[in-house]
Amino acid sequence: MSTSRTTGLSSTSDIFDPARYASTRLPIEQATPLPPDVYFSQEWYEREIETIFRKEWLVATREEEIPNPGDYVRLDIIDEPLVIIRGMDGVIRALSASCRHRGSELMAGPGNCKKIVCPYHSWAYDLDGRLVATPGMQDAEGFDKADYPLGAIRAETWAGFVFINFDTDATPLLESLGGLVDRMASYRMQDMVVTKKWENRFRSNWKIWVENSREGYHVRTVHRGSLDTFYPGAIRTEFRADGEPMVYAINSSDNENGLYVPRNATLPFVDGLSESDQETTHFIIHYPHLLLNVPPDRITFHQYFPEGPEWVRITSWCCFPKSTVDLPNFEADAEERYYPSMDMFLAEDKGVCELVHRGITGRMAEMSRYSPSEERTVHEFSNYVLDKVLGPA
Ligand code: FES
Ligand SMILES: [Fe+2]
Repeated sequence: MSTSRTTGLSSTSDIFDPARYASTRLPIEQATPLPPDVYFSQEWYEREIETIFRKEWLVATREEEIPNPGDYVRLDIIDEPLVIIRGMDGVIRALSASCRHRGSELMAGPGNCKKIVCPYHSWAYDLDGRLVATPGMQDAEGFDKADYPLGAIRAETWAGFVFINFDTDATPLLESLGGLVDRMASYRMQDMVVTKKWENRFRSNWKIWVENSREGYHVRTVHRGSLDTFYPGAIRTEFRADGEPMVYAINSSDNENGLYVPRNATLPFVDGLSESDQETTHFIIHYPHLLLNVPPDRITFHQYFPEGPEWVRITSWCCFPKSTVDLPNFEADAEERYYPSMDMFLAEDKGVCELVHRGITGRMAEMSRYSPSEERTVHEFSNYVLDKVLGPA
């Protein structure tokens, strides 16, 4: 997509000119959404990669996906091939999946290995990234294997989630999560296990997905069919948003049995939740990459991978407590009562994100205003993006 394309009245020649975002910086009662071209400009996207995705904590996987030494997953994130691997010492590391010889990509798919062996000339690395075997290199002068480990980036965990960060100076993960750590402790998410994943790739800027994912404004329109089918109480419910700005927001419901628990629920709630948590579904965002939905009985979350300004790949995960998964009826109940709603929601959200992307790329596209009662999280997120890409206001 050309970066020189302009849209309507909102464009100026310099997309990084802070003046053109002055109205998004206003309090939400007066503010205007971001101009359309930040959703398709290649140069804006590249700045987002440098200032957001190469600086912030990103969800990589769940710990239970790699429970044993040698277990690994391969991940391509912002065009970077990575392997997330558990070492012999039990430590989870995030290593570059690019061979130090002549750069071949290493490893495929999830699996277990004793060494990381390059498929090209069989150089081999220990699970902590040290180069340990280099056949045919005996005549290379001054060559020392110790000088060529695989590149590594930071990997830290919270509540069973494995996060990675390209920035060596980033704030430690638990510190960056702020009040979320204590607030969600009673859910014991570290004791949950992945039971199903959904993969989607579609034409939409990544921000459209994030914005859609964290506001309840669209729910009564876009999800009317799925809500009526699966969670009839929710259609009448007002969402609210609170929490720590830039860390998390919670939308909740006081309808019977919580917002996203099927009306004919058969699977138990997490033991020991407060009365209000038993009637609440939390929709949490930790910018930019943790989008976590927490009803009283399970969690779902979305992991997204921008692929250029106009495409996004989403992996959506569902996890239940281990004790629930061990129930004899779990598989059948999950398939019949729990997963179908996710199938429908994802299809509806994907569809509307594609619509927004197509509309926003029209030359006449021009935004107007936010709903102060419904889109606080969207306004916050837009300002977070501006803070990162342009610097604080
Ligand atoms: S590129 Fe990996 S061993 Fe040659
Ligand atoms: Fe939605």
